[in-house]
Amino acid sequence: MLEVLVLVSGGGTNLQAIIDAVDSGVVTNTRIAGVISNNKNAYALERAEKHGIANLCVSPKDYSSREEFNEKFMDAVDGFRPDLIVLAGFLVVIPPAMIEKYRERMINIHPSLIPAFCGKGFYGLKVHEAALARGVKVVGATVHFVDEGTDTGPIILQKAVEVEQGDTPEVLQKRVMEQAEWKILPRAIDLIANGKVEVRDGMAYVLS
Ligand code: GAR
Repeated sequence: MLEVLVLVSGGGTNLQAIIDAVDSGVVTNTRIAGVISNNKNAYALERAEKHGIANLCVSPKDYSSREEFNEKFMDAVDGFRPDLIVLAGFLVVIPPAMIEKYRERMINIHPSLIPAFCGKGFYGLKVHEAALARGVKVVGATVHFVDEGTDTGPIILQKAVEVEQGDTPEVLQKRVMEQAEWKILPRAIDLIANGKVEVRDGMAYVLS
């Protein structure tokens, strides 16, 4: 059974998609061991609470230095003894020691087709604003392993979504979530839980 820890900062619709997929059996061999948020007001925490999932908040605001936060945050993460960490809209920089410790055991969902519209400063609605400003006709989402860079780790799954005439960033964000994010994030977890993802020479491969 894959023990999964989900890290969140906001609304938690991706967390909800994972919860629903585990409940309905779309994701197998997986237990959501816990949820950690950096933001005590994140609705994601309520979603976890409603489903009886252990949850807690560890906020940089509660510590006098980043080092101290990183230490407490890592302790909280390790406390769940996760096999897999899922960044589901988590907007805090991951401590380098944690990246090292959980290499190939930590994944992130990003709301674009990497390498487009990713890297520093591209998160949440900003990604969709940039895509519309560039006039692209196809957008999408990516699930990738987390490495030292921003959105640079091995890509596991991607799904494309069409831009429609008159899209606003909000409308496009919702379509990308519905058609791509909420599908490929649970799918990636299921693949990992069933030993179907392999990383070789910096590339991720899905085994058939
Ligand atoms: C999602 O669109 C996710 O892809 C994005 O934040 C949103 C969180 O929504 N993540 C990033 O931009 C990371 N660079 P949610 O809290 O409703 O799942």
